[in-house]
Amino acid sequence: MLINIGQLLTLRSSAAKPGPRRASELKELGIIEDAAVLCLGGKIVSVGKSKDALRDSWLKKNRKRVIEIDCEGQVVLPGFVDSHTHPAFITPRLVDFEKRICGATYEEIAEAGGGIRSSVESVRKAGKSQLVEKVLQALREMAEQGTTTVEAKSGYGLTVESELKSLGAIRDAATRWPGTVVATLLGAHVVPREFQGKTDEYVKEVCEKMIPQAAKRKLAQFVDVFTERGAFSAENTARIFEVAEKHALGVRAHVCQLSETRLQPLLRYNPASLDHLDHVSDDDIRSLAQHDTIATLVPGANYFLGLEKFPPARKLIDAGVPVALATDYNPGSSPTPSMPFVMSLACTHMKMSPSEAISAATINGAWALRLAERKGSIEPGKDADLAVFEADDYREIVYWFASNRCAFAVLNGTLVASAGSAELG
Ligand code: NIG
Ligand code: FE
Repeated sequence: MLINIGQLLTLRSSAAKPGPRRASELKELGIIEDAAVLCLGGKIVSVGKSKDALRDSWLKKNRKRVIEIDCEGQVVLPGFVDSHTHPAFITPRLVDFEKRICGATYEEIAEAGGGIRSSVESVRKAGKSQLVEKVLQALREMAEQGTTTVEAKSGYGLTVESELKSLGAIRDAATRWPGTVVATLLGAHVVPREFQGKTDEYVKEVCEKMIPQAAKRKLAQFVDVFTERGAFSAENTARIFEVAEKHALGVRAHVCQLSETRLQPLLRYNPASLDHLDHVSDDDIRSLAQHDTIATLVPGANYFLGLEKFPPARKLIDAGVPVALATDYNPGSSPTPSMPFVMSLACTHMKMSPSEAISAATINGAWALRLAERKGSIEPGKDADLAVFEADDYREIVYWFASNRCAFAVLNGTLVASAGSAELG
């Protein structure tokens, strides 16, 4: 049981009908002061004021059997749901990093043979256990900053065998981590060298081999596509979505990161999320507002690519589009495991308020993974996923940047202390 919590952000909803948070709903954090949360068997059992928890007759009888943690001077919120990450890679892309510093763009580097393709060889060569260690290391770093649920994509193998190996590594890492992992097949990340000029043939490989095999072995819940010039067209994407649908897998896509793609043809497939959206049109913003598809914004990529422009969060939110935030953890455009840093960027560069950023990083992330029944808010019956920060006021979570104030996280009922956090006892 966590007790004496300075501020508890429950993120419980006051809306009549369930659904992702939009517009002013993003600001509702459901704050309880001097609060307590009781968790049993990996689930949240009760949520309320500390004094009411102490009066509870069950607790009075069982108090000795319950581990009690005093959270005075701390803020407790739902563990972050990082709904867009690419952890199945081996090496950082330092050459790309230096080239960009000298003025080359992400696309120029990709065209010259760098970019995603340059991460492929090491993944193809790696043994599965080597990949498992990399994924696990990323998951652990994420938990240190308060993340308890992670969507993890393959996408650096680009053969049937190495995409399945990557998904297998994600699954194995997940069994060694107490949080929750949702796996996504991103076989259509980029056309690999051996298929250069034969995009349709590669799409066929994704549709006829990768998706059926990943589905059959239950290695993925979602299929993702990088829909972009230089990668896959909207037509390619629609074809992949159709096959995914046939195999009962959910779909999502990277869209409008570098250039505009029209979203209407993709929205027909009811994607769980469309991610990046830097170049989304006003027309499509209006369409998105009519759907439950989450607009997942990943400003870590804009930061790391040194871009001046950031995703149009204000326009999206003000139009009624449900927005989530994610790290996009990957070696090319966003090597950060930190949701608080991404939330801070959302505030400073996208003019989201701290409360909007928190909803986007918790409950709407859960909607983006179709896990909102279990994740994203602190309510009885939900999974015991909590993040505990050293702060008197929740706004400090996004105010202090490049400093980890997360004291510990609770992942499905298991407490994981952050390195450097002192007096946990
Ligand atoms: O979300 N844009 C496509 N995928 C990643 C980048 C992957 C990489 O560069 O390795 C992204 O930014
Ligand atoms: Fe990505």
